[in-house]
Amino acid sequence: MTNPSATGRGVWSSKTGFILAASGSAIGLGNIWRFPYMVGEGGGAAFVVIYLGFVFLLGAAVMLAELALGRHTDRNAVGAFAATAPGTLWKLVGMLGVITGVAILSFYAVIAGWTVGYLFKTVTGSFSQTVTAQESQAIFESFASSPTANLGLLFAFLAVTSIVVWRGVSGGIERVSKILMPVLLGLLILLAIRSVTLSGAGAGLEFYLAPDFSRISVATFPAALGQAFFSLSLGMGAMITYGSYVSKKINLVTSTGIICLFDTLIALLAGLIIFPALFHAGMSPSGGGVGLVFQVLPTLFAELPAGQLFGAAFFLLLAIAALTSTIALLEVPVSYVIDEWGWSRGKAVAATAIVTFLIGVPSALASGAVPFFSDLPGAAPDFLSLMSIIFGNYALTIGSLGLAIFVGYRWGVQAAAAEIESEGVTFGLKHAWGFLLRFLAPVGITAILVYIIATGNYF
Ligand code: TRP
Repeated sequence: MTNPSATGRGVWSSKTGFILAASGSAIGLGNIWRFPYMVGEGGGAAFVVIYLGFVFLLGAAVMLAELALGRHTDRNAVGAFAATAPGTLWKLVGMLGVITGVAILSFYAVIAGWTVGYLFKTVTGSFSQTVTAQESQAIFESFASSPTANLGLLFAFLAVTSIVVWRGVSGGIERVSKILMPVLLGLLILLAIRSVTLSGAGAGLEFYLAPDFSRISVATFPAALGQAFFSLSLGMGAMITYGSYVSKKINLVTSTGIICLFDTLIALLAGLIIFPALFHAGMSPSGGGVGLVFQVLPTLFAELPAGQLFGAAFFLLLAIAALTSTIALLEVPVSYVIDEWGWSRGKAVAATAIVTFLIGVPSALASGAVPFFSDLPGAAPDFLSLMSIIFGNYALTIGSLGLAIFVGYRWGVQAAAAEIESEGVTFGLKHAWGFLLRFLAPVGITAILVYIIATGNYF
């Protein structure tokens, strides 16, 4: 794809190119960092079951709707609503998406910075001797509570993201993903094999794979739903924007299926790596919070021959997977500002990145650097977790609800299906999809939100 806004809207070079770019946006820290810690805090396998149900029932339906709307209107997250329903308030759903994109990027880039920090630590030998659980936790705590490391890495990660977005999300990303995604997949499979063969792995596998529904609570449902939307990059117009670069020849239905399967596979593999290793090291699945993966993995690398090499490769690939997501996150507000405010790409990128950095400062200081942000008053956890819950769960859930109602009722299932069926694509599940968008998604999501508000069970 060429720079979409400098040369008119670009088009992905092929179906593979599109699927790789969309998967690159979906696959990231959400799969490898966020999914395991949500499963750990959310009660294990029972959470996983509910999560899978949400991905394939609601997530896939919403993804298809976003892609179709984007391709049909050829516009950004806000413009797509404005073009389909001119002069209405529907564009507020798109606006919420733009704000959510900035908010998610502000804490996501903090964690992305950690992957770079851990890459350096691994390369410089911090984990070259056997590390115990306690040592690994201590290393994490001293790293995560350093204000200079956190702010510096946040700044650096946003700077690299900005440069890529400023130069246009061009062929580079497609080419890089083509090589690196298979490598990441291969490495994850290898690590999973090592992890499940560790002593004590059985208890981890049981926690992760044998559902115990007594472990879950009311709060599990919004958490699993939010995680599904987060992991698939839905509810904030990212797939509208990416859909606007898709040619009419591409089958959106099979593409959606492949992206959802691929994203789920990577998340499930991440869990297969983390939980056996975690139980082997004698850690608690719910004790690590946002640091879970960073505390567990060094103990696993210590158990591998050439662990330093595997560790470095892992954090490098994770940083790149995070970068393909931060690029898409930044592209949403940037393409909005360019299209709707008429700004140049350079100015749009610079302004958005600076605002994102400023909003990201408290998240960067929320893991020990500043006590107030690290332990907020009341029931709320630290500032980063709070941003992750508000924007990563609730805002995406509300955005997806708005999108389902918009496509289901305002634009209309018939019109949307006609877009999906352009150039002879057959869409056999049209009626099921219409039912999901018009009934199951609105009713299900509203019920969950109302329940949460009524019980006050926000976290
Ligand atoms: N799906 C990404 C991940 O799992 C995170 C994400 C959420 C995202 N919304 C997005 C990425 C929008 C790009 C665009 O890591």
